[in-house]
Amino acid sequence: MIYRGRRLRQDAFIRSLARETRLSADTLIWPVFIRAGEGIFEEIPSLPGQYHYSVDQLGRAVDAALEAGVTKLLLFGLPAHKDAVGSDAYDENGIVQQGLRAIREKYGKSIYLITDICMCEYTDHGHCGILHGDYVDNDETLTYLDRIAVSHAGAGADMVAPSDMMDGRIGSMRSALDGAGYERLPIMAYSVKYASAFYGPFRDAAGSAPSFGDRKSYQMDPHNVREALREAALDEDEGADILMVKPAMTYLDVVRAVREQTTLPLCAYSVSGEYAMIKAAAAAGLVDEYKIMCESALSVYRAGADMLITYYAKELAGAIRRGDIG
Ligand code: PBG
Repeated sequence: MIYRGRRLRQDAFIRSLARETRLSADTLIWPVFIRAGEGIFEEIPSLPGQYHYSVDQLGRAVDAALEAGVTKLLLFGLPAHKDAVGSDAYDENGIVQQGLRAIREKYGKSIYLITDICMCEYTDHGHCGILHGDYVDNDETLTYLDRIAVSHAGAGADMVAPSDMMDGRIGSMRSALDGAGYERLPIMAYSVKYASAFYGPFRDAAGSAPSFGDRKSYQMDPHNVREALREAALDEDEGADILMVKPAMTYLDVVRAVREQTTLPLCAYSVSGEYAMIKAAAAAGLVDEYKIMCESALSVYRAGADMLITYYAKELAGAIRRGDIG
């Protein structure tokens, strides 16, 4: 007795016909770390296979992305100089601003550049905003975030992605961008960002671990999912164009819940710890890296994400092209 499921699984043709989840390289975003200095193209110890690039070396990243079929980058900056207010983040000649201009000059509009808007890589205390005592001052931080966003827009960003988790930042940033003439620039909000240990390898890569305390007063409690829906609704009301859930793999229930609440495009960020765990397990010979990478990415789309930020973007684009997923 052959049931319907078996009939639909019997060969590659019908399996691809009946497939419920479709992936496309168009929906992949690759994070890239720009580091102050010259001639830097160095593998990041906590993220094997990912590199720090100085501005003069950034072409390597863009060429590799385009060759793999990835056309969207998410840029992070590691400045030469950190201070209490993270001034490199909004400096006309800040590290990300320099990177944006260098890529634009060489590649024009053939690559889409999204910038992470946050202060933790730029502050000497490693927190995501302006400190008063031991607390991040929400409203004062907003004025800095607005300046960073306008400055990135001026240097050529196609989209900004605030990851700070301050309240009211999307509304504030939208009016700052509009006021500066950037009405068309979309905002992708890190709406649902948990206080997660999965950011560990990123903080090593970006030198952005807080020097004291943690981020629990502004990032979300992993116990909560209704709170995720409130955060998503606020960002949507304030004008976010795309919502994001982060991390991805251990929060797929949250991706699904936000998917069911919003009609906006939804992104998920498969963060540094997810990538580093697969790399480490594969290096120990415990799992098949390629298959685990494919299956993990698939799970995020199946949960309801429309797009994925991942350190595996280039390799996934290859897997999609070869028909191993998608
Ligand atoms: C900046 C920021 C972080 C990540 C993205 N933007 C670090 C953090 O919040 O501590 C993490 C990304 C990753 O782990 O891959 N706030």
